[in-house]
Amino acid sequence: MSAKRAALAGVVKDLRAHIGHLRDEGVQALETSARPRAKVPAASKPLPPRATAAAPGQSAITPTAPIVPITPSSSPPPATTAAMQQLAKEVAACRICVLHAKRTHTVPGQGSPRPQVMFVGEAPGADEDAQGLAFVGRSGQLLTQMIIAMGFTREQVFIANICKCRPPDNRQPLPEEMTACLPFLRRQIALLHPALIVALGATAVKGLLNSTQGITKLRGTWCDFEGIPVMPTYHPAYLLRNPPAKHEAWADLQAVLKRLGRAAPAWTQTRKGA
Ligand code: URA
Repeated sequence: MSAKRAALAGVVKDLRAHIGHLRDEGVQALETSARPRAKVPAASKPLPPRATAAAPGQSAITPTAPIVPITPSSSPPPATTAAMQQLAKEVAACRICVLHAKRTHTVPGQGSPRPQVMFVGEAPGADEDAQGLAFVGRSGQLLTQMIIAMGFTREQVFIANICKCRPPDNRQPLPEEMTACLPFLRRQIALLHPALIVALGATAVKGLLNSTQGITKLRGTWCDFEGIPVMPTYHPAYLLRNPPAKHEAWADLQAVLKRLGRAAPAWTQTRKGA
């Protein structure tokens, strides 16, 4: 490598590290030009994408807006990883609500420590309780298809729930169980600071937004959780029972991709299964 190229590589490396640091500090957008840009309403302003490898068999996703791609530094900030591990330990030791009594495993959630998108569901089911992992049963398989259709892998997003323990017989979590568990989710969001949250179903909407509005009314509408845009959409379990609603859910996920400044790939997998 020539001295000029080596110097340039050094500058790029430093710039990447700096941008990674800015993101860790909560910076979500960088101006790229001295020319004034037309103001975009907050609700539709695209967010800067983080570089994302194309899923196997898929072409790379290119941003549709003139924005600086933010490349994450190669490894996550150690503080976040350590803090997430500490949080998972606290979840495992939690006995605040009755759900601890019948659990096999706690399910803190899993995924990228620096996700662009965080998915929040309701609570673990039987498969999740058995494995200690969120969304690994039938609903999880559909969620995986949705994530892949968006051009991500499961490892590139973060998947969590409002409640970290399985409610008996898969009943909905009670308000006091949600209240007991919510501080864990709030800490996860603060540590991960995702660019966007997708709230999967009515319980996620109630927990995150404290909204009593039905998911049918609220889905597809941008909401806000402490400055982070939230897109409510249908829970994958509902979509398994009502396949035609997948088209609405896909429209919601396309709005997410648009907000991220990413091109929306065609919906293929689920259409076949619909
Ligand atoms: N349903 C949820 O809401 N979360 C899971 O992890 C699995 C099923």
